[in-house]
Formats: sequence, structure tokens, C-alpha cells
Amino acid sequence: MRILAIESSCDETGAAIIEDGRIIHANVVASQASIHERYGGVVPEVASRQQLSALIPVIESALAEAGVTWDSIEAIAATYGPGLAGSLLVGLAGGKALAFARDLPFIGVNHLEAHIYANWLRPTGEAPLAYHPGDGLAEWDGDPLFPLLALVVSGAHTELVHIPRHGHYELLGQTRDDASGEAFDKVARLLGLGYPGGPAIQRAAAERDETAPNPYTLPRAWMRGTYDFSFSGLKTAVLEVTQGGHDQVAAHGASRYRRAGEAIGAGAGVSIPDVAAAFQEAVVDVLATKTVRAAVELGVRQVALAGGVAANLALRERLLRDLARRDIPLRFPPVALCTDNAAMIGAAAYFHLALGERSSLDLDVRPGLQLPFANLAPDEV
Ligand code: KG4
Ligand code: ZN
Repeated sequence: MRILAIESSCDETGAAIIEDGRIIHANVVASQASIHERYGGVVPEVASRQQLSALIPVIESALAEAGVTWDSIEAIAATYGPGLAGSLLVGLAGGKALAFARDLPFIGVNHLEAHIYANWLRPTGEAPLAYHPGDGLAEWDGDPLFPLLALVVSGAHTELVHIPRHGHYELLGQTRDDASGEAFDKVARLLGLGYPGGPAIQRAAAERDETAPNPYTLPRAWMRGTYDFSFSGLKTAVLEVTQGGHDQVAAHGASRYRRAGEAIGAGAGVSIPDVAAAFQEAVVDVLATKTVRAAVELGVRQVALAGGVAANLALRERLLRDLARRDIPLRFPPVALCTDNAAMIGAAAYFHLALGERSSLDLDVRPGLQLPFANLAPDEV
């Protein structure tokens, strides 16, 4: 089944042509990062306007890149949440309009589920090997194995999720305050490293001399006895270590971080690579420790990383090493498929469409959408 998938939940506009949830014929992403960089984060009003101007050209590029015409598209998928309402609206309305005009089946996709399904996508050009009919859904060699444990780490979410089978999610733990990606972004701003923060922190950390001991050790919030996370204290600890001065601490919100970052950038005598590495190490330590513990306790066959922070090399290396010791395989999408893209929307869409699901054309955006956790009451989700 050949799907045209659209992603517009935040500051990336994506369109992809995906076959059977796994093969990428085209995956086009227009990023607005350079526009938002000057503000140190995404400005929602600016983001939705950019989505509007990028959507049609991005869809046309995807069709051209795949070398296909509309006649070969069998279904249309678009993200309906979570994300910024104005941004979501553009892709969802566009997807529904195209489905109506072409008389094609339409499916709204949960962006978090799509991050997980990025693990089903094959590197471009690689064909699936063999095909095993399963419970209504065919499995191909190389597909992730159930029961699966997913660590979902994005700009707004940090969750450990048990997935015994397609579409069934059980929440084990989540962040009680900041998401891990949000912590990367805030600390990068604090250090004057720019937006998006994750890649910037990773680059800065790689610059430090690893043979010398790091003078900084930052605290870990272990939230003992739970699979929950907390990253807001870590952010404050970085603020204190870097001590941009009491003025910065007293100021509020984003300006507090930006001013501290400017003070540090101006040469307050702090080693940015050392602080970046200490911060990254603290985040990775907590994420990896809890993920390994959950994987062992639940006896899963595989662990999968999902979301923008899954692009982090330190996190991948640490988990690869710790899980290998316990003979549990780890999988993660290529870096370009970890951050927001439409290929993953096409992957998740396929598994719903293949089971006969369709969305109505009056589907609305759901900015606060969660994964449909089976172990929580609907009002807790
Ligand atoms: O999944 P994503 O692209 O968007 C959301 O759905 O939120 O995730 C974006 C987040 C940002 O916070 C960004 O700083 C983080 O992913 N990120 C990284 C890396 N690349 C992106 N965090 C750590 N290391 C990276 N290499
Ligand atoms: Zn995302």
C-alpha cells in the first residue's frame, strides 16, 4: 500500500511517500529551525504561517522525488496531534482536503506513535527480506520484535512504554516536569549554544578533552522506585554551575536563560564543552539506567528508541553497551528519521490502514494528544 504522509506538528513541514509502512520512496522535510533560532525556540504563530507556505511545495517535491503520480497513491495520512494547534491544522486540513479531492482513504496519525514506528522504516533502497503472515498484519524480517520497550524522548515527551503488540501501549513512567529534549534546548540556551539545543550540546560535548577528568558533575534525579523522570533540577544545577550572576537568576522565563547564556558566551570563565558533557552525561545516565532496568524486569525481546533525543549519540552508545551485556538488542532509526519527518507518519499510518481503520474527514487537531495507554483510565491519558 502506497501512502502519502504529511507531518506538520511543530516547526518542520514534511511529506513522504511510503510503501507498506517500511519502504521510503521519498521523504522531504522543510525545516524552519533557522527562522526560530534567533528567538531561541519555536514561535507558534511564525511556525503555522511557515507551515502554510511550505506544505504544497513539500508535497510536490515528495511526489517528484518518488517519481510517482497521484494515480499511484492509495491513501493519505497526516498528523493530528500532539503538537502546536496552528501548525497541526495546516497539515491535517491539507491532508483531508487532498483525500476528499482524490477520493482516497484518510487516516489521522498520532505523532508519538509515529516516532516509535520510525523503527519499522528501512534505509532507502533496502528491500524487506521475507514476509511472515501474523495476526492480521504481516511481519517482515528485520521488523522490531514484540514485546518491545520504547523509550520515547522528544521535545515535549519523555516516556518509557511497554508495547506487547502493534497498537497496544502501557505507560511505565514519564517525566514529572521537563521533557529530556526540552532540557537539552533550555540548557543550550543557557550556554549560549543556540536552537535546536540537542545537536548543539552534543557537538559542544564532543569538543572536550576526554582524557582529562570533567571538573563538573551534575545531579541525577533518580525518582527511586518508579520509572518516572525529572529534569528540571538538572537545568537549575547548570544555571548555578555557570552562575551567569544573580541578575540572571532573578530574571524570569526565557530571558533568564538567554541573558545567562550571553554572560557565559562573553567569557565568564566557564568551560562550555565541560558543562555540556556533564549535562549530557547526567541525562543519558538516568535515561539509560531506567530503560535497562525496565527491559530486564519486563523481559522484552527488544528496546527501541524514538523521538528527537534518540538522535543523541551518547545515549545510543550507552544503551548499546548496557543492553548488549544483557543480550537485549537495541534499535533506533537513522538520525534523520529520529527528528520530525513524514516518513514515520506513513509507517504508523500503514499499520492502522492495514487493519481497516479510517479517520473521518471531520477529525480535528488534538494538541495535547497522548499515546492511547491501555493501562490508564481515559481521564488519566
Ligand atoms: O521529536 P522531535 O524532532 O520533535 C518533537 O516531537 O518534540 O524532537 C525535538 C527534540 C529537541 O528538543 C531537540 O533538541 C532534540 O529533540 N534533539 C536532540 C538531538 N537531536 C535533536 N537531543 C539530544 N541530542 C541530539 N543529537
Ligand atoms: Zn516529534
